[in-house]
Amino acid sequence: MDQFIINGGNVLKGRVEVSGAKNAALGIISAALLADGISTIQNVPYVDDIRVLLEAMKDLGVRIKNIDDHTIEIDSRKVDKLVVDYEHIKKIRASYYLLGSLLGRFKEAQVAMPGGCNIGQRPIDQHIKGFEALGAEVEVDHGMVKARAKRLNGASIYLDVVSVGATINIMLASVMAKGVTTIENPAKEPHIVDVANYLNSMGAEIKGAGTDIIKIHGVDKLHGSEYMIIPDQIEAGTYMIASAITGGDVVVENLIPKHMEAISAKLLEMGVGIEEQGDSIRVYAHKELKGVNIKTLPYPGFPTDMQPQMTALLTVTKGTSIVSESIFENRFQYVDELNRMGVNVKVEGNTAIVSGVKKLTGTEITASDLRAGAALILAALVAEGETVINHVDYIDRGYEFIEEKLRGIGADIVRKSDSKEKRQLKVM
Ligand code: EPZ
Repeated sequence: MDQFIINGGNVLKGRVEVSGAKNAALGIISAALLADGISTIQNVPYVDDIRVLLEAMKDLGVRIKNIDDHTIEIDSRKVDKLVVDYEHIKKIRASYYLLGSLLGRFKEAQVAMPGGCNIGQRPIDQHIKGFEALGAEVEVDHGMVKARAKRLNGASIYLDVVSVGATINIMLASVMAKGVTTIENPAKEPHIVDVANYLNSMGAEIKGAGTDIIKIHGVDKLHGSEYMIIPDQIEAGTYMIASAITGGDVVVENLIPKHMEAISAKLLEMGVGIEEQGDSIRVYAHKELKGVNIKTLPYPGFPTDMQPQMTALLTVTKGTSIVSESIFENRFQYVDELNRMGVNVKVEGNTAIVSGVKKLTGTEITASDLRAGAALILAALVAEGETVINHVDYIDRGYEFIEEKLRGIGADIVRKSDSKEKRQLKVM
């Protein structure tokens, strides 16, 4: 397993570019399966989760071609298998989007039931409720979710919890259902809007994505299209915090400032300088920062995917901060690792009480999931001496060449790898 070796203390300066949004790409690439045609998708991030999803799709018969570093062609005219095995699902939960796509197009799908993961139990009852409302029969049998329908009919679906995955999966299953589907209490994340925009570019009729109610008029057929994925809100936020935590001055480029509002607002409250410049944000921290309270919420609230990184920043910020995690029940695991670096954080249930300390010290620590890994990197950037981070594979799932991007703005970070193969900038 690769490790990152980080020598802390460098003040980050310069410009760093954000890649395409991983969580939008997962939905969009799955949606390409709905078309009896060829789609060209641009700004695809080079991250491991995307590669795993593409492998799962290839296994179904879909042809994938690399056009350039961040552009792929997805030819889904020929699909000869409607079963997604556990082998794919256990590597990446989001392969469950193939359930929505296969059901939507072929009225039949079998996808391995995803288990829990390090951040929580993560049930999919709302996805299943949505498919059933559309007229599918769904059963969980020997670890497989099996869904089939003679025909899918539009329905009114109210989500009991705001779920990104259920909102996308129901959109995928219903775009070609007969009649009108409404999703009430949907997730409103930027990637929901991006998936809807891509579907509309394929001939779908979806209105209201990003608002309190999504309305989908079923169409008979979807065609392939050309589409560019939005920038990654969470990757952008992570680099914003990298600048703030090192007392740096960094311009984070190729982002959508509107998507960053919850993160920018909290950084401003702490005393960080934020300047929007078109599709970039300059982030600088030239004075002592003060603690703030954070509560994670569905968009437009503060994203749970930024909670670990923000907590890392608060560990070295003056005063006491309270961080409440309201989306996942087990998203403070990384605190045990941060404790080894000398932080003062107490976790009680879904709340962390963070008392800022003057300094962190480097040691060997282990990432437990993607964003936990990002938080450890951020802490290591300010820690005294050397930090070794194990289980970098979690970080590679969602950050494209994070070590190179950080080195580009002055961080002392290297990858130690057992593999002789050079990591290449290619999606497949
Ligand atoms: C998406 O996961 C993201 N993943 C996650 O990103 C992100 O943390 C999460 O949304 C919240 O923003 C992708 O987009 C691929 P949810 P998802 O369904 O869709 C409960 C990252 O680091 N729930 O919005 O699985 C659930 O348990 C990752 O990039 C049900 O109860 O999240 C949770 O408490 C990790 N029943 C809450 O809803 C359901 O059927 C929100 O989960 C579905 C969800």
